[in-house]
Amino acid sequence: MSEFSARYGERVGLERRKQFGQFFTPEPIARWMVRWVLAGGAGRVYDPAFGLGAFHQAAGEIAEGVAFEGSEVDPVILGFWRARGDENGAVVRQEDYLRAWGRQWPAIVCNPPYRRFQKFLGREEVFAAFEEHLGVKLSGYTNIASAFLLKSISELCDGGRLAYILPLEFLNTGYGAVVKRQMLARGQLHAIIRLDCEKAAFPDVVTSVGILLFEKRAPRFPTRFYVVSRLDALETVLDTPPVNSIPPEELRPGEKWLRHFEAGTLPPRSPHLVPLSTYGTFSRGIATGANAFFVLRPSQVTALGLAPEEVVPCITRSVQIRDPLFTESEFRRLVEEDAPVYLLRAGDPPSAAAACYIRRGEAEGYHRRYLTRFRDPWYRLERRRPAPILFGAFSRDGYKVIRNHSQALNLTCYHGFQPAGQGARYVERLFLYLLSRVGRETVALNVRQYGAALGKYEPNDLNQALVPSMEWLDRLDEEQAAVEIEHARHGYLSSEMEALFETLIDP
Ligand SMILES: C[S@@+](CC[C@H](N)C(=O)[O-])C[C@H]1O[C@@H](n2cnc3c(N)ncnc32)[C@H](O)[C@@H]1O
Repeated sequence: MSEFSARYGERVGLERRKQFGQFFTPEPIARWMVRWVLAGGAGRVYDPAFGLGAFHQAAGEIAEGVAFEGSEVDPVILGFWRARGDENGAVVRQEDYLRAWGRQWPAIVCNPPYRRFQKFLGREEVFAAFEEHLGVKLSGYTNIASAFLLKSISELCDGGRLAYILPLEFLNTGYGAVVKRQMLARGQLHAIIRLDCEKAAFPDVVTSVGILLFEKRAPRFPTRFYVVSRLDALETVLDTPPVNSIPPEELRPGEKWLRHFEAGTLPPRSPHLVPLSTYGTFSRGIATGANAFFVLRPSQVTALGLAPEEVVPCITRSVQIRDPLFTESEFRRLVEEDAPVYLLRAGDPPSAAAACYIRRGEAEGYHRRYLTRFRDPWYRLERRRPAPILFGAFSRDGYKVIRNHSQALNLTCYHGFQPAGQGARYVERLFLYLLSRVGRETVALNVRQYGAALGKYEPNDLNQALVPSMEWLDRLDEEQAAVEIEHARHGYLSSEMEALFETLIDP
């Protein structure tokens, strides 16, 4: 199989494979999944994303006389598979699975294409069909793999089994809630196995990949969450103790499930921890809708003849800030480097120079962009105040938190914190906590985990993150905090400060 798929890869190239989401299931995984669905007693198996027939081949090796059917949208890959002459009676239709409704299957096994719907032609039609047939509204963020899974669950006969291998990020995202709800409502979710060893099947996927085992019958026992770090451990994984085992009534569709793959990762209970929203709120940075128009370098500002008050300082890219403290002198360094750190803020009415630049923008169609066309006038961005704490929206290996002493605003690369009420007095101390080891561990539990190395942080997750109460932070006076900030300049806290924060969760 692997030699066969390598030949196919050479023939069509990576671009086309990516376009169709063509990544192939390794043989041992395909065999294991097929064995599990067949153990339910079905004599007929269906694969909605057939590709080069990894599951068909596995079925042929495991059991004789199993009828195999499949769907595959790409005629090229199908032709390649047929030319091999290994059909053995399999019925594979060339069709778009998401448009083929009205069938039922006793067993389904699938490695769905992993792509976003954004580029899917006829997406509206597919969404309308989901609403008509399943009564569910898909979110625009849904990826195709989740839609495949949702449809397959609905097509499974009573008592039928389904095994899917797919990226697991939907377990934590808003759009995944509808899939989780259907799984819980329509049957027994046996197990979800996170495959820490298997990125090869999904080389472009930044999230973890896993196998989901589902059966259409009244749920009777808890869902088991496993992690497998070596392929050969998959064979016996269901006979080993799971990381977590959670009864269906405790699995809530709206909650994030990826944490169930971690042992002992529930947030610490401490009387001194309160939600961060006690102090203020994080919100998304400014979305201009057309950075190429709004974001300017100092040299462009000069060349365009814009007055200083027609632009505002702004951090437009994450890399523009390197250290945990960001000051006016750091900002001046960026200006000297001619970095893109200004945002157009045309006057009312705009000066002649700004009006001329705006007309140029219109000639290039920037006023018809998704965000700009809803603004009045289209070139006027929302007014914001500089945020004293910035938090990286995407971070690798732990998050990026910045104490911003400058007047710079921020685009969406950072979320900005605005204190409310008493919160203003605690900005320094909160920042120190966010930088501390305990803070990092506690906050990380609240945020969406897309995978081992890549974290995406939503403002709302941060607002719910646990931080010390005001009474607790009062143990640390403002002067002490100011001294500590000097350590923070280098990216770490003093060991005394780390030890103090440790007492929060281990008093
Ligand atoms: C991830 S591959 C899996 C192939 C094979 N089943 C395996 O496990 O190795 C997904 C396959 O689905 C096909 N595909 C993509 N979109 C599809 C659609 N809308 N309907 C049916 N098949 C589709 C792709 O061409 C690709 O061959």
